[in-house]
Amino acid sequence: MRDITIAIDGFSSTGKSTIAKKLADKLGYVYVDTGAMYRAVALFALQNQCIEKDVVNEEKLIASLDAIQIKFKYNPQVGFAEVYLNDENVESKIRTLEVSKYVSPVATISEVRKMLVNQQQDMGKGKGIVMDGRDIGTVVFPEAELKIFMTASAETRAQRRYRELKERGNNISYDEVLENVTTRDKIDTTREDSPLVKAEDAIEIDNSDLTIEEQLLRILNLANTLIHKKSDCN
Ligand code: DC
Repeated sequence: MRDITIAIDGFSSTGKSTIAKKLADKLGYVYVDTGAMYRAVALFALQNQCIEKDVVNEEKLIASLDAIQIKFKYNPQVGFAEVYLNDENVESKIRTLEVSKYVSPVATISEVRKMLVNQQQDMGKGKGIVMDGRDIGTVVFPEAELKIFMTASAETRAQRRYRELKERGNNISYDEVLENVTTRDKIDTTREDSPLVKAEDAIEIDNSDLTIEEQLLRILNLANTLIHKKSDCN
């Protein structure tokens, strides 16, 4: 038996974090939501006047990167590690549509990516980790033993995100959410630095018609096969 690295990438609102959390729980692995880290930087940008007239002021944000400290702390009440921005728990503040609107432009900035990728690689040094994001299997852990690439139609994903935001009390329309999902897809897949692409050795799962349990079982089987695989040297 050995510890492995599990990279889960895919489009926004494909339910990556739901599956990744459950998977980490079953395996006793650490779970890291890298989208939360980019969202925390976008929240910092909003709170520190790095967004002017709807546009991210890249120079100002880059000059402020030293003032951004992102940490995760496990909360036993919710069963996962929540994200902290400069010692403040921002887990719910980063899930608003306003942060979603600016997070993709913020994630195109190479200096931001470099800072966060370094932290992510540090967190995964000891393996035994499930990390979800857009570039985990391609850039952060190209050597990950298991890579999953999640997809679903834009409409299915927008419905899911719409329900989630409504449940949290956000007053938005389905059309606004769909627009945000498709805009983010475009920015995430066409940016120059680390665009969202399926790693060649990733296993693609279209979960439009799969339940959470079905997805979990499938990925858990794949992970267990690798965890119990005898070393190639034997
Ligand atoms: O997974 P999410 O929707 O919370 O991610 C928010 C944004 O952060 C997403 O639009 C793209 C960006 N992101 C990224 O560029 N690289 C990652 N590893 C994770 C997220």
